[in-house]
This record gives sequence, structure tokens and C-alpha cells, in this order.
Amino acid sequence: MIKIFDKFLEGKGAVITGAASGFGRDDALKLAEVGANLVLSDVNVEGLEETAQLVKSKYGSEVLTVQIDVSDSEQVKKLAKQAYATFDNIYVLVNNAGVGIDFSSILAVKERIWDKTLNINLKGQWLIAKTFCRKMKVQKFEPIAGKIINMASIAGVNIDPFIPVYSISKVGVIALTQLLAAQLAPKVTVNCVSPGYHVTGIYDNDTDLMQKTMDAGNVQTPLKRYGTIEDISNIIVFLASPHSDFITGQNIIVDGGITSVGTPSHLEFK
Ligand SMILES: NC(=O)c1ccc[n+]([C@@H]2O[C@H](COP(=O)([O-])OP(=O)(O)OC[C@H]3O[C@@H](n4cnc5c(N)ncnc54)[C@H](O)[C@@H]3O)[C@@H](O)[C@H]2O)c1
Repeated sequence: MIKIFDKFLEGKGAVITGAASGFGRDDALKLAEVGANLVLSDVNVEGLEETAQLVKSKYGSEVLTVQIDVSDSEQVKKLAKQAYATFDNIYVLVNNAGVGIDFSSILAVKERIWDKTLNINLKGQWLIAKTFCRKMKVQKFEPIAGKIINMASIAGVNIDPFIPVYSISKVGVIALTQLLAAQLAPKVTVNCVSPGYHVTGIYDNDTDLMQKTMDAGNVQTPLKRYGTIEDISNIIVFLASPHSDFITGQNIIVDGGITSVGTPSHLEFK
């Protein structure tokens, strides 16, 4: 029996996109703690180097940093090339990079925002998964050759009218997860995680801004607190671990009960 805190990723590579901030940074620290060799990537090179330094000083892990825009297929190829030039396998892929928050109604959204949001949040995850799964599915690890974890959102479960394009992108991520899971079984598991409301860079690290977003949609959280970054990185560790080997195609919702027994964001018609 492997204990969850064993170094179960020793000798295994993990790619994390959006690693300069928020969930991605903590995923890097947590996966390093369980022994992974890290490939960290982001558009934000300063934040990326800061994450790498934090990981190296705390765990002395091997870390490769690659600055890329996940929505650009040539840059995604560059990421894969550098990753495989440095490490002989990539066992975990955390498709985490994302942008929010459009705060507009669906009929007022600007074309530029539509394109940017869908290109980064959805096309980016597809490009990265497509690129890395080729080698991942033929790796010799048993019983699972590799694991893909995509970041979705509760806005993809209950459509949030205040962030329509973001919601559409996350509906797409849930669909992408199921399609990849079916195609890559039984070698690679593919799951997604849907956070609720957690203060990160996506809310400019501003609790008031996040609370305003929650108020606009009359959100009620049964567990009566905000989500933390660790609430998500703990699930990422679980999905990267052997404890989740029989789970694929799932959307794991981590939202304090909002979507199942609380009140998700909604418009009230007067
Ligand atoms: N914070 C929340 O409450 C919440 C809720 C639901 C889903 N999510 C999802 O979690 C994921 C991580 O976001 P976060 O909350 O940690 O926010 P964050 O802003 O702290 O982190 C996102 C990271 O993605 C990077 N990024 C943005 N565009 C990129 C691009 N084109 N190429 C590469 N990197 C890019 C940013 O530079 C940043 O470092 C996102 O997919 C987001 O949609 C967050």
C-alpha cells in the first residue's frame, strides 16, 4: 500500500502550465514534495522563476522553466521539446493556465475577449494534452502510463451569466476531459477539477473583488468559507497519486457545496 505522502512521483516528470501564480504555484510545491521532476510553464516569466526558486529552495528538486503562451501551437511544441530534452518521461500533466474574468453579458462580450478566453482556457488545454499524450500513452509505467488533470470551474457546471465566455470555456474543458479520457483509456487517466471561489491571481489576489463577484450572482456556500489554494492543490496531488488510478473522465467539484446543495451564481429576474 502506497501512503499518500510517500514520494510516489520520484523519477516521474510533471508539467504544470500557469505555474507563475495561484493554484499552479502551489501544485508545483506539492508535486515537488512527493518527488516529481518539474517542468513549469507560464507567460509570466518573473512569476515562473519565483515559483522555481521556491521549489528548489524548499525541496531541492530538478526544475525546468519554459516561458510559453499555451494558445500558440508552436510554443507548445517548444515546451514539449524542452521537457523531453530534460526529462525522460512526463507522467503528470496539469493543464492549469487560464484567464478570467470577463464580467459582461453574453450579448455585450467583445470579440477580442471571446477569442482570448477560448484560445487560452480551452484551445490551450487541447493543444498541450494532444502534444504530451503521444509519448505519455506509450510510457512503461504500470498500471497507469500517465495522468492528465485539467482545470475546469463550477462556472462550467452551472453557467455563470456574469462571466459568460469564461463559463463557455470551462464547459468546453469538461467536454475535452471526457473525450480525452475515452480516447486515452486504459493507459492514461484524464480528469478535471472544478474549483468554486478561491482568492488567486484570477481575482487580482483581492478578496473584496471575489466577494463582489459572489454577491453579483447571489452565491451561497454551505460550508461558509472561501476556498483556499490548498483545497485545490490537495486534489491535484490525489489525482496524480495511485489512490486515483481507477478514476477517469470525472469532473471533481471542490466548492464548499455551492453547486450541489448551495446556490450557484445566477441572474434574478425581477
Ligand atoms: N481562483 C478560482 O477561484 C478559480 C475558480 C475556478 C477555476 N479556476 C481555474 O484555475 C486555473 C488557475 O487559475 P488561478 O485561479 O490560479 O489564477 P492565476 O491568475 O493566479 O493563475 C493563472 C496563471 O495562468 C497564466 N496564464 C495566463 N494566460 C496564459 C497563457 N496564455 N499561457 C500560459 N500561461 C498563462 C497566468 O500568467 C497565471 O500565472 C485557471 O484555469 C482558472 O480558470 C480558478
